[in-house]
Amino acid sequence: MTDTFWNEVYGEKSESERSWSDEALDEVWIMVDELGLAHDEPIIDVGAGSARFLEGLLARGFTDLTALDLSDVALAEARKRLASSTSMSWIVRDVTLWEPTRQYALWRDRATFHFLTNESSQRQYRNVARRAIRSNGFLLLSTFALDGPTTCSGLEVQRWGTDEIAAFMHEDFSLLSSERRVHVTPWGSEQAFNTWLFERRA
Ligand SMILES: C[S@@+](CC[C@H](N)C(=O)[O-])C[C@H]1O[C@@H](n2cnc3c(N)ncnc32)[C@H](O)[C@@H]1O
Repeated sequence: MTDTFWNEVYGEKSESERSWSDEALDEVWIMVDELGLAHDEPIIDVGAGSARFLEGLLARGFTDLTALDLSDVALAEARKRLASSTSMSWIVRDVTLWEPTRQYALWRDRATFHFLTNESSQRQYRNVARRAIRSNGFLLLSTFALDGPTTCSGLEVQRWGTDEIAAFMHEDFSLLSSERRVHVTPWGSEQAFNTWLFERRA
């Protein structure tokens, strides 16, 4: 998977033509609200795409937000909408190769980790997340569930169940809660997702 691939996807498809577009992330907002984070705590969306999640955080009053994505086309689309916001930082980078320079209270990833299908890149991701999330900070991760699709945008994905992800993350993160939801794409197909909230071990 390359930045060229994702730049083409974002360049060629409008938001309503992207399978992952989703306005209704109610269970995620409940999880975020329950964390009770102060509005000035730093939050990063990894694989942010066109950054609708961050837009929701801005509307809730959060003031220190970072969008990271492989695709500068995706982030440019988001920047156009959020240009007037001084709360946003933008990082164009492959998350597995990223060297974080600060720590975040919350790391959000919806539908990015599941594109990492080999164990070495999954381990790289986990190592970056461990370094980038402060002690007792949170990782809010959504991937396709075990009965979800096997591909997304024509790319193979790895599907995860709760036991599998908890075992994989266990060294650095404790599982606090999990939610399952069937996402309906803009054209009506169903995709089973799992969302997990982890706390970074001190
Ligand atoms: C299916 S989209 C999800 C976008 C967004 N999270 C959402 O829920 O709308 C996957 C996103 O992950 C980004 N991505 C894929 N692999 C990545 C990587 N290794 N590092 C950073 N971003 C990546 C893609 O550019 C794309 O924006």
